[in-house]
Amino acid sequence: MSPSATIPEATFTTTPMKKSSSDKHDYGAIVNNIDLNDISDIDVRHLADAIWTHKVVVVKGQKDLAPIKQWELVTRFDPDSPQVHSHGDLKTFNSKGGLLSTEEILKYDDDDDDDKKYREIVGIPGAENVRLIGKGFQGEDHYGIKNKNITKPLSHDWHAKVLPQEEFEEGNTRFQRWHMDAPLYGRDPAWFTTLRCIKRPTEPQVTIRWDDGSGFSMKAEPGLTAFISNVQTYEMMTEDEKKMADHSWVEYAPHPYMWIGDCKGNPNGLGLVSQGKEKKLEDLGDFDPEDVKTYPMVWVNPVTGEKAFQVHGICARKLFIRSSPTEEPRVIEDLVEIRNLLKTIQERVLKPEYVLIPSLEEGDIVMWANYQMFHTAVDYPDWIGSRTMHQANIASSTGPMGPVPITVYT
Ligand SMILES: [Fe+2]
Repeated sequence: MSPSATIPEATFTTTPMKKSSSDKHDYGAIVNNIDLNDISDIDVRHLADAIWTHKVVVVKGQKDLAPIKQWELVTRFDPDSPQVHSHGDLKTFNSKGGLLSTEEILKYDDDDDDDKKYREIVGIPGAENVRLIGKGFQGEDHYGIKNKNITKPLSHDWHAKVLPQEEFEEGNTRFQRWHMDAPLYGRDPAWFTTLRCIKRPTEPQVTIRWDDGSGFSMKAEPGLTAFISNVQTYEMMTEDEKKMADHSWVEYAPHPYMWIGDCKGNPNGLGLVSQGKEKKLEDLGDFDPEDVKTYPMVWVNPVTGEKAFQVHGICARKLFIRSSPTEEPRVIEDLVEIRNLLKTIQERVLKPEYVLIPSLEEGDIVMWANYQMFHTAVDYPDWIGSRTMHQANIASSTGPMGPVPITVYT
């Protein structure tokens, strides 16, 4: 994860994304002149640095990429990592008897995107850690997957206040669920996620509504992923809030996606509605306390040194709050209080001018710094067309680092 300042220059070009005069997001870049079927170790290092630096990078022109090469790239980004997708291999992933049951992990797995309630996760034959994500008919033969039709319920059925079907069919939609790709139990989250666009509709535009009383909405092409920067969230915090966040940490629930299996989200996709529907720990089955994750509130970018307020609020079970290294932490276990505290901070950046929805042409791969950003799917009505994406990331060799050591793991 060290900067590549001392190695030969990259052979590809990196250009910051164009912004409109109203945009306030400060990240995003386009990479050109690179062939991911044949990339040198030096360019892999440069590309990793580009992702850490620009947070969201669209690599153009990878229409002919072999799926196994996407997986190889992911492993080369983090060569010391165990060679497994951040959510485990497909056998574990789809195993009924596994630690996480198929139904639950498919419902609340935080891979790219859509609500997987009734959905089978399909690996690409020969590159099983590259996951097929999409909707609708995937073609007669998609890299050996024959006549696959991906059907699923509307992703906005996860919101407590449901978007009426009629309005959805007219092209109104919402952010599904803001998150980072993180198991938050056992394995550490991937540094980066890669998502290749194989096929998607480009029109008509959908209208994304917040539906939270703010009145915010924005237009976007269908089938894309939206981003907000938790670095910008951190920058919006007061000095006192930053001091608190720098020294505090979060304990996540064991089997967190099972824990919230019956919960519903806020209409803007950020955070849960507190209805007391979290499962009791004794109902989660066996879990190893060693695998429960405790992470700093603030995650430091290893290349730029930037700080991100990186709290996966929907899975947070306890907050440990302090404002100096020596202070005894105040423990917050009340979920309403936890969510209110996080909402106050995290909603500041959830405004149209801070949301980036990079356009993807067929063959483009979007790659993002999972330790710095939140992202979400944005569903669209089936009649607009089918969508095919390939997603891959890898459980990291080194988890997130906070700005100060956290030695009190309770
Ligand atoms: Fe995701």
